[in-house]
Amino acid sequence: MKNLNQQARFRMYNNPKLKLTNATSISSGQVAWRCPSNIALVKYWGKYGIQYPRNTSISYTLSAAHTDTFMSYKTLATDSQNGKINLAFTFEGKPQGAFAAKLEKFLNSLLPIFPFLSQLELVVESANSFPHSSGIASSASSMAAIACCLCSMEQQLFNTLSDETEFWRKASYIARLGSGSACRSVYGTAAIWGEHPEFAASSNDFAIQQTEFHPLFQNYKDAVLIVDRAEKSVSSRAGHALMETNPYAATRYEQANTHLAALVKAMQTGDMTTFIRIVEAEAMVLHALMMCSEPSYILMRPNTLSVIEKIRTYRQETKVPVCFTLDAGPNVHVLYPEKHAAEVEAFILNELEPLCVDGYWIADQVGKGPIALSEVTIA
Ligand code: PMV
Repeated sequence: MKNLNQQARFRMYNNPKLKLTNATSISSGQVAWRCPSNIALVKYWGKYGIQYPRNTSISYTLSAAHTDTFMSYKTLATDSQNGKINLAFTFEGKPQGAFAAKLEKFLNSLLPIFPFLSQLELVVESANSFPHSSGIASSASSMAAIACCLCSMEQQLFNTLSDETEFWRKASYIARLGSGSACRSVYGTAAIWGEHPEFAASSNDFAIQQTEFHPLFQNYKDAVLIVDRAEKSVSSRAGHALMETNPYAATRYEQANTHLAALVKAMQTGDMTTFIRIVEAEAMVLHALMMCSEPSYILMRPNTLSVIEKIRTYRQETKVPVCFTLDAGPNVHVLYPEKHAAEVEAFILNELEPLCVDGYWIADQVGKGPIALSEVTIA
């Protein structure tokens, strides 16, 4: 039964009617989106099927860390037929073979959802606001930007997504197929992904927006400290796969769901103690799961631990509510309320910056979600 439901869900957006015909008036156009990255507070770690999460997760949507994607299209004289995509891709002005191949494969896999893609010549240009290997999830922002572009293209060509709710839900669904956590990047402030009994609208298929927080948790700050720039020794894809044999997996999935409900409640009521306890526990558990995978691996570096210890000591001594989280990598996200920005940023400059590679860190904060690039001036 579960398998049947899964198959039905996968087909939920399949639509053979989205084909260009002689009656289609548009023959070329351009769509463009700026999409932010996100930082998970309760982590998605473990998946099944086509990017379905083993547990519910929640993230803050970022702002400064984003991807700009421009997608131009022109109708081909003849349909390139049978699942072939006609794509030219550049990243930051240069051809980027590895991502181009990944994108082409992804677009091919989307043909049942967007059959018109094989009737177009596509030119995709993409750029990130943050450097490579900076500890920012570029797959989240880049896949979310691609998803938004595809939905805008559908809207331009067929006018089928004029309902905003439906547009964002579909964009989130498509982003999820590209990179699980990307589905949370299409909503401003924060997003929850994965079915949870206490959130009626929650789904494994797409994320839902969460904006109702106590003022303390609005406009939260995230300073991303780059303590190591090396390529990760184990990819997220491999890390998710190792959860299938992790002896603590079942307990972990249950814990994540409990954490999520308690965290959202804390963010709604302004309960900082619970927020800090859960957010830091989530970071530690994520890395503990890596350490007790078979084979075991460690993505933290010595300076990751030094930063963590300094944050905890500073918090204890000053009572300033600053905490940390980690992604699947060594770099540390320092989280703090906007009203404590001055003292926390002085602390970062004095004590944490010396632990960063070349003193490099990125000052980010919670943002409003994707922006259509016609609405901004590109620097
Ligand atoms: O979306 P993926 O497959 O890159 O996995 C992301 C996993 C974490 O960043 C570690 C956690 C999360 O929820 O974003």
